[in-house]
Amino acid sequence: MTASRRSFLMGAAALSAAVVTPETVRAMAAMQASADWALATADLEADVAPWVMRLVHGRAPAGLTGTLFRNGPAKFRRPGGSATHWFDGDGLMRAFRVNDGQVTLDARFADTPKRRWESEIDAVVTPGFGTIGDARARIGGTEDANAANTSVMVAGDEVWALWEGGAPLAMDASDLSTKRFVALRDDLKGMPFQAHPRYDPDGTIWNIGLDADKAVIWRLNADRSLHTAEVLDLPRASYMHDFTATARHLILVLQPWIFGRQGMPYAARFQWKPEMGTQVMVIDKADLSRRRIFELPSFSYFHLGDAWEDGSGTIRFDVAAGKDVAFALDGARVLVEQRGVVPGEHAVLNLITLHTDGRAEMVSSGVTAEFPRSDPRRAGLPRRLTVHTAGERPDRPLPTGLATWDWDTGRSDYFSFGDAQIMEEAVIVPRGPDETDAWLIAPSINLREGVTELHAFDAARVADGPVASWRADVALPAGFHGVWAG
Ligand SMILES: [Fe+2]
Repeated sequence: MTASRRSFLMGAAALSAAVVTPETVRAMAAMQASADWALATADLEADVAPWVMRLVHGRAPAGLTGTLFRNGPAKFRRPGGSATHWFDGDGLMRAFRVNDGQVTLDARFADTPKRRWESEIDAVVTPGFGTIGDARARIGGTEDANAANTSVMVAGDEVWALWEGGAPLAMDASDLSTKRFVALRDDLKGMPFQAHPRYDPDGTIWNIGLDADKAVIWRLNADRSLHTAEVLDLPRASYMHDFTATARHLILVLQPWIFGRQGMPYAARFQWKPEMGTQVMVIDKADLSRRRIFELPSFSYFHLGDAWEDGSGTIRFDVAAGKDVAFALDGARVLVEQRGVVPGEHAVLNLITLHTDGRAEMVSSGVTAEFPRSDPRRAGLPRRLTVHTAGERPDRPLPTGLATWDWDTGRSDYFSFGDAQIMEEAVIVPRGPDETDAWLIAPSINLREGVTELHAFDAARVADGPVASWRADVALPAGFHGVWAG
């Protein structure tokens, strides 16, 4: 239906409110129809047993072997009450297992106390990021609200489902069965371990957990055992979904979305105060008491790219920056409603530079971008490429394409599926020394076929489209973050 036709029908329906005709009933029904992107937040009713994905395009890259583990919310609605925000669905762990060109897909829900209780009463009742919950919620312990739905890290023969407000949930990497919440040390149970760990080239893992104006800085050894956990005071109680790091420094970006009161849902605790600007806190990894603060204009964000610093000590990193928190508060709510206009502007890829004289600056690439990733071998080290999803438009949410951005040349290498597909975050699988000598592995939801696909792109020629695409027989809702285990 065209926009003018829709406007006409809306007007007709309003004008004839007193006289309900079959035509107006049909017009109103059309207005209530789900959006074409509704599969992104559809409910999955059961785990997905291992299934061979069919190669439907191109040729599988020779020798490509490994598993893409991805996490994301996949069950929102129940008869007795539903999650009302994209970030609050039950976590579903997906495993795209690639073996020399053959791909199987299996997926299993994180078997959390929240999901067990809500399955029993067939109602979503637990408060979350944007879901208020109700008195039927059972919150007896620290992990009873944990949705385990945001990201994943590999830990030996386990994968850890990561959330924002609680501990990792260990699942078996081979069959995705849930094992236990991870206690990195007995006395640290209940401390939040967020969804965006950063990896040093030597295997050291850094992460943060937040409680108002305090942050726990987690440092894990390569074997995922705890090295140290240290609590820092922050200059402001900012909402932070992500942080970044160079080889020598941790970088916390304090957007002007400020904790102001207790209560639920969680997002309602924060107030958007753009007049405060954005602060960037740089912390010495070797001595967490050594900190510097930089000031930038206000912007909102969820995701940062890996940071690096040059010989002079100048630090650079990218951010998918927005202008306010309309998407976080309202857009992600309307995504679950699956109809209507989704509030919030798409994010734009920016480069932040922190100079040694204390100045900070932010330069826009101009490209629409979310889920920035880069070559894992260069984490914390100089690089030029950022891989990101792309293609969100003001009139339509969610990405439809994939791109690389080259900070040296200012060149975007972009491919779009158009409205036929919803693109998800890509992981980078290096095959040679150069940053472009890599495969980009990412799933999508093929909206026309109603199925999930997996794609391999050549990082040197993204605009050519996928070199290989495999198709499942089921559509999984859009996931958030993944990791490649080679
Ligand atoms: Fe995230």
